[in-house]
Amino acid sequence: NTEQQALFIIFGGTGDLAQRKLYPSLFNLYKRGYLKNHFAVIGTARRPWTDEHYHEVIKESIADLSDDEEKANDFASHFYYQSHNVNDTNHYVTLRDLADKLDEKYGLCGNRLYYLAMSPRFFGTICEHLKTQEIITKNGYNRVVVEKPFGHDYESAKALDDEIGSVFPERDVFRIDHYLGKEMVQNILAVRFGNSMFNAMWNNRYISNIQITLSEALGVEERAGYYETSGALRDMVQNHILQIVTLLTMNAPVSYSAEDISREKINALKSLKVYNADEVKKNFVRGQYGSDAGLKAYRDEDQVASDSMTETFVAGKLAVENMDFAGVPIYIRTGKRMKEKATRIDVVFKQMPVVVFKDSCLKSDVLTINVDPEPGISIQLNTKKVGQNFDTESIDIGYSLSDEQKAEMPEAYERLILNALRGETMNFARWDELSYSWKFLDSIRKAWDDEDLSVDAFPNYACKTMGPKASDELLEKDGNHWEF
Ligand code: BG6
Repeated sequence: NTEQQALFIIFGGTGDLAQRKLYPSLFNLYKRGYLKNHFAVIGTARRPWTDEHYHEVIKESIADLSDDEEKANDFASHFYYQSHNVNDTNHYVTLRDLADKLDEKYGLCGNRLYYLAMSPRFFGTICEHLKTQEIITKNGYNRVVVEKPFGHDYESAKALDDEIGSVFPERDVFRIDHYLGKEMVQNILAVRFGNSMFNAMWNNRYISNIQITLSEALGVEERAGYYETSGALRDMVQNHILQIVTLLTMNAPVSYSAEDISREKINALKSLKVYNADEVKKNFVRGQYGSDAGLKAYRDEDQVASDSMTETFVAGKLAVENMDFAGVPIYIRTGKRMKEKATRIDVVFKQMPVVVFKDSCLKSDVLTINVDPEPGISIQLNTKKVGQNFDTESIDIGYSLSDEQKAEMPEAYERLILNALRGETMNFARWDELSYSWKFLDSIRKAWDDEDLSVDAFPNYACKTMGPKASDELLEKDGNHWEF
């Protein structure tokens, strides 16, 4: 594991994301030897923390991952806290001095990774100051990692991208979609392009429909303020779901390289049918959870308006109009407070053209890729039922990761941070991908905003269910049903 040399500057260093995801991921990279002696982290935020307090926070955030106090202390000693007002030019001068000092102390060769984990409205000013105050080095690499939300529509995403792009070239911009760092999401390409069996069948002659489910059992937790302005469409569909759709429907890349894969992903996104208002009505369902099973309704959550029309559930039928996927419905679904946490993809194959076994009720073959919570792959097939008679039955052939494999498996953020350190862009969203996905999304958002939905339309699903009835009907209309 080659050691990476870099200075991390984390904007939003006191935040929830930093504590829940970034610090544990950095610690895992440290445990695995990717980070050793030649790294340092500057955490910045407005709060006036001391380095000592910051070290305590770091140790707290990695407590579950470490039983070696010395190691935890040594890791934490690489962290420095800088109270920082992102609009104050003088603060960048202090930041540069500290950055240069640490560069020398730890031998970081001028490599810098700027991690923007705060409100996007500050991205522009941060990037500009990094340049004008010469925090950007001349001798090493300078990469910026950008957290979501990357805009709230095409226009705002474009404005954001222009601001970042005026300082960092595209190859140095790493837009995070943490689903692209998940083991089983990365496995989609291996399954599709590593097996002639699936490669041959991966088209509208053999596939009946594809189903993508990202259901969550949790509600909005402490993020209602953000969620009220985002809703499930922007929070989960624009990024995670559309990335999965793309990986499932793109044509084969010429090689497993960022360039070739991105080209095909963009083509797949370009082939996604952008709906008009009528089509949105026909093909999309939105929902909001009510109270049930002792759980609060969305409208009763803190920071949520009592007549909120924000959707906490979305189901939709997408059409990818390329040669192989024209006519194959891609059903998607995501929501909060659903029955259980499940991230899975079901590829449903067409039934046999002729049924040889007249009295049998053959099921469709289904390939399931389980992303969370139990990573694995399974295939549902028809076989003969054991016995004197000739009956058929449906069986599952399954592969799930062993405990050892799971321990080996890097967490999504850990993988993505290492990718950024190595300059590997493959698992990040390019601007073109974002631009097509926002254009697709904007048409749905606009249709919804223009529709005068009555306040009583929500809530329309109970907690611990799979969402509103209309989500099932969306498939029933086509003679299909959710496999899960
Ligand atoms: C985030 C969303 O991008 O993904 C959250 O903002 C959601 O609302 C989360 O809970 C789900 O991620 P995961 O990895 O737990 O499936």
